[in-house]
Amino acid sequence: MNKNIGSESNKMIGILGGGQLGSMLAIAANKLGLKTHIYSSSKDSPAFNYATKYTLADYNNQIALKDFVEDVDIATIEFENIPEQTLNYISDCVPLYPNKESIFLSQDRFLEKNFIRQNGVEVADFIEINNKEDIKKWDFSLKPGILKTRKFGYDGKGQKLINSMRMCEEYFIGLNNVPCIIEEVIPFHMEVSTITTRSQDGSIEIFEPSRNIHKNHILHTSSIPSGLSSSLIEKLYEISKLIISKLNYIGVLSIEFFITNNNIKVNEIAPRVHNSGHWTMNGANVSQFEQHIRAISNMPLIKPKTLHSLEMLNIIGTDIHYWEKSNDNEDRKIHIYGKTEIKKGRKLGHVNSIKRFKK
Ligand SMILES: Nc1ncnc2c1ncn2[C@@H]1O[C@H](COP(=O)(O)OP(=O)(O)O)[C@@H](O)[C@H]1O
Ligand SMILES: [Mg+2]
Repeated sequence: MNKNIGSESNKMIGILGGGQLGSMLAIAANKLGLKTHIYSSSKDSPAFNYATKYTLADYNNQIALKDFVEDVDIATIEFENIPEQTLNYISDCVPLYPNKESIFLSQDRFLEKNFIRQNGVEVADFIEINNKEDIKKWDFSLKPGILKTRKFGYDGKGQKLINSMRMCEEYFIGLNNVPCIIEEVIPFHMEVSTITTRSQDGSIEIFEPSRNIHKNHILHTSSIPSGLSSSLIEKLYEISKLIISKLNYIGVLSIEFFITNNNIKVNEIAPRVHNSGHWTMNGANVSQFEQHIRAISNMPLIKPKTLHSLEMLNIIGTDIHYWEKSNDNEDRKIHIYGKTEIKKGRKLGHVNSIKRFKK
């Protein structure tokens, strides 16, 4: 094994997960002269097409994992729901960025919200639901609540707006009594997110926040600029810096926020590059993917600069048929992920539309 021999450019980066985020990380690594090894349990893994090497195996396949860690110099993730034992094993063998503690925290909404609150940052009110009795602790006659599974939720999956205790009990049972939270509904007037990167020397760079619009709980558009006041943007940066530093985090961390009048609440964090950061591919001097690869492979970060106003539109489900037949032009960049299965609600690509006036 030639581990750690030679220049940075010989480095093999292991990426757990084979979706579009893995593809875009692999392309960014390649641009920097680095190699990638994608590990995924799914045959339909578009990132396999862009990687130097790939492994198709379950996340708890010990033989495949051993081969993987022997092949890579560092490891990272493109989705957070990787089994705990697997993350423990990988981080015992090679440097894992971000650290496993940050990943564990963001796998569980209850732990995540507690952590954010303990650091003096507001979140929506919430309670923990482990059994039917716990549901009585939320007074639905005072306010409705959103029942969310603590783990494995994404794109609105595993969550439901609830108006009564009976309805809550029914849904909880329907979820096979898995641990949940109930969370208050926030009457936000805007959703925004930050994409923050922390390097190995502790320096931090943040892309300007995007304004995010969701449809059916799935991200629909992310726009730059967000339209937020500069004082609110400064507060978002402060919160982002605080959270990433407290986690002793290396790499890109994404944070979703609810904005109500002049108040900020953190919705959730993702320990990885994020859909709401795809605008950076065509709207900034560096993409979130390159910035992540730079951070984890100990290369200097680039100070993010926004080049254009821009709207990122997700291509979801059968919308792909339209976009597959469309062409890029100077102001419109279409990114198709190459997934083989077209399913309702599945993210299959995105379009960055540039609005050409200098900021
Ligand atoms: N407490 C809430 N109040 C208002 N809207 C919410 C709340 N929680 C979630 N939503 C809406 O649902 C979307 C998805 O929920 P989120 O908690 O971010 O889960 P996911 O992991 O599926 O992204 C949010 O971006 C927001 O639009
Ligand atoms: Mg979310």
